[in-house]
Amino acid sequence: MTETQANSPLILALPKGRILKALRPVLHHTGFEPAQDCLDESSRRLRFPTSDAALDVVRVRSFDVATFVAYGGADIGVCGADVLMEFDYPDLYAPLDLGIGGCRISVARPKGADDEPPEGRSRLRVATKYPAIARRHFASRAINAEIVHLHGAMELAPALDMADVIVDLVDTGSTLRANGLEEVETIAHITSRLIVNRVALKTRPEEISALIERFRSAVAQSAVKEGDAA
Ligand code: PRP
Repeated sequence: MTETQANSPLILALPKGRILKALRPVLHHTGFEPAQDCLDESSRRLRFPTSDAALDVVRVRSFDVATFVAYGGADIGVCGADVLMEFDYPDLYAPLDLGIGGCRISVARPKGADDEPPEGRSRLRVATKYPAIARRHFASRAINAEIVHLHGAMELAPALDMADVIVDLVDTGSTLRANGLEEVETIAHITSRLIVNRVALKTRPEEISALIERFRSAVAQSAVKEGDAA
């Protein structure tokens, strides 16, 4: 490691969207206040300083957090367990369940439909943004599945005859209901995790371990606060 790298700020990758919102109280308790516009998703800036000169934040798509951390662009990050399951990067270590962003990854199909592929088709068509998870899930049930890889709005696919079922995140279930679908099987329960690049952990062990501990205690403190509010 060069001296410049050793002195450079650590980089924390945060996901846009609902996890970022849920993460606010935890971030607050870490004591690292990111620049104001970091939590404002209309800002076009992507890298932000924090109140600690030794830590910068980058804000990326939730699906890309694991990739930024696995390739060492960021040292540490926050992402859903769904993303970890999908990519399964060996260079990532996930030391902490943040207990936020709870939801599930499930199979859903049109209300009243059955499990079989329609007549004339030998394979069940599955629309999903999680091709690896869906492939593994149906293979484990000896179901011959054809994956239709989409990046969003897969709830449309069954009604438009592109797929028989979908595999997607379900939180309140309102997106499924609004699109005439019903959840038929839960593949996994999901929460957000703190993830760390294994090389960074080896090269900057004190700093990274201290950061993990700050998050650990912030999670505990925000859980206490939530309990007080209940
Ligand atoms: C997720 C998921 C569903 C929706 C489920 O999308 O893909 O569309 O949330 O939530 P619900 O059960 O509460 O309705 P998200 O809003 O994260 O956006 P994305 O599909 O663009 O990632």
